[in-house]
Amino acid sequence: MQKLVVKGPVKLTGEVSISRAKNAYLPILAAVLLTDKKVRLKNLPDLRDIRTMLKLLGNLGVTITKEGDTTVFDASTLNSHEATYDLVKTMRASIFVLGPLLARLNKAKVSLPGGCAIGTRPIDIHLSNLEKMGAKIDLNAGYVEAISNDGLVGTKLPLSFPSVGATENLMMAGVFAKGTTVIENAAMEPEIDDLANFLNSMGAKVSGIGTSKIIVEGVEELFETDYEAIGDRIEAATYIIAGLMTKSSIKVTNFNPEHLEFVIDKLKEMGGNIEVGKDFVNVEPSELNGAKIETAPFPGFPTDVQAQMVALLTQVNGNSFVKENIFENRFMHVPELMRLGAKITQEGKAVFIEAPIQLKAAPVMCTDLRASAALVIAALCAEGETVIDRIYHLERGYEKLTAKLQGLGANIEKVD
Ligand code: EPZ
Repeated sequence: MQKLVVKGPVKLTGEVSISRAKNAYLPILAAVLLTDKKVRLKNLPDLRDIRTMLKLLGNLGVTITKEGDTTVFDASTLNSHEATYDLVKTMRASIFVLGPLLARLNKAKVSLPGGCAIGTRPIDIHLSNLEKMGAKIDLNAGYVEAISNDGLVGTKLPLSFPSVGATENLMMAGVFAKGTTVIENAAMEPEIDDLANFLNSMGAKVSGIGTSKIIVEGVEELFETDYEAIGDRIEAATYIIAGLMTKSSIKVTNFNPEHLEFVIDKLKEMGGNIEVGKDFVNVEPSELNGAKIETAPFPGFPTDVQAQMVALLTQVNGNSFVKENIFENRFMHVPELMRLGAKITQEGKAVFIEAPIQLKAAPVMCTDLRASAALVIAALCAEGETVIDRIYHLERGYEKLTAKLQGLGANIEKVD
């Protein structure tokens, strides 16, 4: 089992370039199934979740070839409608193939994703709305079996919650549906806009992009496309927070700061010296105050930045309060941060953080992707040598993390 060894405290310096967004490319990869024409995707990040999705597409019969920094997909050789448990259990985003397989083949058999560390993560909103589009859905032996013999039919789909995954699955299901699909109370995360732009680049007709009412007019077929996804705003937020935590001057480049407006505004409100450019931010040493944070669907404070924020709030001048409104169990970084000396008390879906605290190195363990990132950035501030275990969680969502942090001057090594 590989571990990370991080020596702190450290000052960071220099520039870090952000990779393409995992949570944009995962649904885009699923959307490759919609067409029998060539799709070329640029700069796919080398992440475990992306590799899992590529394996899943390969198992469905998609031909995948690499041409330098471009990966070429040919789904004309699609020969299966079944996403099996052995792959889906390792990545719940596999559920994104349900909509495209139904749209393309009128049938799909996808393993139920199962829960994960941060919550049960049901897919009831996905399934109930696919049924409204005419799909017949049965749950058998841990599999979702969906059939739409006469093809899906567009209709109005008011979502009970602005679910990111459900919005994406239903958008893809609507591409070939008869008539028009109107997704109301749709999620508005930038990754959803990116999927819509990708679909439109293939000849789909998606409008209302960036709003909570997404309209998909059914078309007959889709065409070849070349596409590159947006920068990963969650990775960018992680490095911005690492810079503030260590009172460093760093530049975070190659992403759209507009996708992090709420986070950047909140950090500035706390006293953060952050200069915002077109595709970068500059972080300067700052004296930060405590904050009151509540996670919310976009454009509110992203749940995927909550753990990193809790780590930062152990280093500010003053106490803080953080409430997690999206997932039911997303504070598993808290006990691990307390092993580093953090003073945090949890009351239900909220935590109270006393600060500033000088963190001290200790062995800690990763539990889920973003909690792991919180531990790494906390270790940059902790006095001594912190050993972080179960780092496979990190490799799901942070491309070249060790190299990028070493590039910023961190003293971090991966050891077996
Ligand atoms: C996406 O997950 C992201 N994953 C998550 O990022 C992110 O935390 C989440 O959106 C919220 O922003 C990908 O894009 C691959 P949801 P998703 O459907 O689609 C409940 C990361 O760290 N819900 O918006 O699963 C659900 O239980 C990952 O990169 C239902 O009840 O999120 C949760 O409480 C972690 N029924 C809430 O909605 C449903 O049918 C938000 O889920 C669907 C969701």
